[in-house]
Amino acid sequence: MLQKTVLFLALVARVLLLDNGLLRTPPMGWLSWERFRCNINCEEDPKNCISERLFMEMADRLAQDGWRDLGYVYLNIDDCWIGGRDAQGRLMPDFKRFPHGIAFLADYAHSLGLKLGIYEDLGKMTCMGYPGTTLDKVEMDAETFAEWKVDMLKLDGCFSSAKERAKGYPMMAAALNATGRPIAFSCSWPAYEGGLPPKVNYTLIASICNLWRNYNDIQDSWKSVLSILDWVVEHQDILQPVSGPGRWNDPDMLLVGNFGLSFDESRAQMALWTILAAPLFMSTDLRTISPQNIDILQNPLMIKINQDPLGIQGRRIFKSKSQIEVFKRPLSNDASALVFFSRRVDMPYFFHCSLLQLNFPRYRVYEGQNVFTRDVISGLHSETNFTVIINPSGVVMWYLYPINNLEHTHVPVVRPQE
Ligand SMILES: *[C@@H]1O[C@H](CO)[C@@H](O)[C@H](O)[C@H]1NC(C)=O
Ligand SMILES: *[C@@H]1O[C@H](CO)[C@@H](O)[C@H](O)[C@H]1NC(C)=O
Ligand SMILES: *[C@@H]1O[C@H](CO)[C@@H](O)[C@H](O)[C@H]1NC(C)=O
Repeated sequence: MLQKTVLFLALVARVLLLDNGLLRTPPMGWLSWERFRCNINCEEDPKNCISERLFMEMADRLAQDGWRDLGYVYLNIDDCWIGGRDAQGRLMPDFKRFPHGIAFLADYAHSLGLKLGIYEDLGKMTCMGYPGTTLDKVEMDAETFAEWKVDMLKLDGCFSSAKERAKGYPMMAAALNATGRPIAFSCSWPAYEGGLPPKVNYTLIASICNLWRNYNDIQDSWKSVLSILDWVVEHQDILQPVSGPGRWNDPDMLLVGNFGLSFDESRAQMALWTILAAPLFMSTDLRTISPQNIDILQNPLMIKINQDPLGIQGRRIFKSKSQIEVFKRPLSNDASALVFFSRRVDMPYFFHCSLLQLNFPRYRVYEGQNVFTRDVISGLHSETNFTVIINPSGVVMWYLYPINNLEHTHVPVVRPQE
């Protein structure tokens, strides 16, 4: 009896300490689902169907168009790649659409300095009806992914029971660990538990998953962005503390470059996802994306904020009756990012505020930059009343850091001679 208990505890301890050291900052890359879904119609739509060709073309764009060098290194396959299982039960791609197999795609990605992500589902079937990973297949599938040299696994939760998920997600984390290959683990577990807040143990989830989906899939509309944002803000007291280096809340993919968002809404999603320390997974056609949308996604200061090494998720700290909200994210070196967000639907709004009202300390002077316009901000005292003009369903985003502390020192800042 005693021996059994000891063994059980040892197993639990092993399950709870699966720190693979990956994703110390939120993952960045490209994921097929939002834009390309389960398009398997390669006859009529060969350029856009879920196939080796699509992933290779996106890999080329990631490597050649500046994305990779800014940190967008994950090339992630979503549902609809599986062809079946072989005689031994091992997963196989649909060889019509992936004629050279997944290991080939992984090699191709690696040769370009990218990483390959793959998708499976903990259940009888994937959400789109392809063979899933039942509990008896967890170890075998983890080994298959490792053999193929995959770098990330998104494990969905369609067609599974709460009991299977409670067993299967920790089991997969252990199985991935046992392969010896560092494979980032993206869990859709919380999104399947429902309830407000979801009935999941986030301490456990954060100890076995590198990122996790909490809520509904994103759709190509502003309404969908708002519904996710509302849910995240409503539960920020639960979600915010769980996130950190190696463990991220995932509000789902960026819509930038697709059909549903206006220019201001695209900027708003990018700014809000960055403030929330969210993974930046694009899901757009990188072969045809406009320069304007590239600007939004390739903004270096935005990416620097998203990738801040402290990895603290931001929060909504202010909400006014005039439908203006302010989000704040603490950054390393005492810096912070602010997003002034308008839910208005009329015209640009003149929002009056001061840093003091946003809980910044007294008697300090800040400088920094407007993240989108690149305008320099200087000499901004905590007490100064300022005005930001925010477009409807738009944002103004600031990066700020203190240049001195008037409380502790009266020595003026000496600037070096030119
Ligand atoms: C497996 O988990 C151990 C304990 O946290 C960790 O040291 C090791 O790096 C992990 N290995 C992989 C491949 O994830
Ligand atoms: C949640 O999981 C952690 C880590 O496994 C565990 O220590 C804790 O007791 C769990 N909390 C609840 C309420 O089950
Ligand atoms: C800023 O505005 C507030 C009211 O909104 C006012 O009480 C305060 O005196 C103003 N501060 C300065 C420095 O003008």
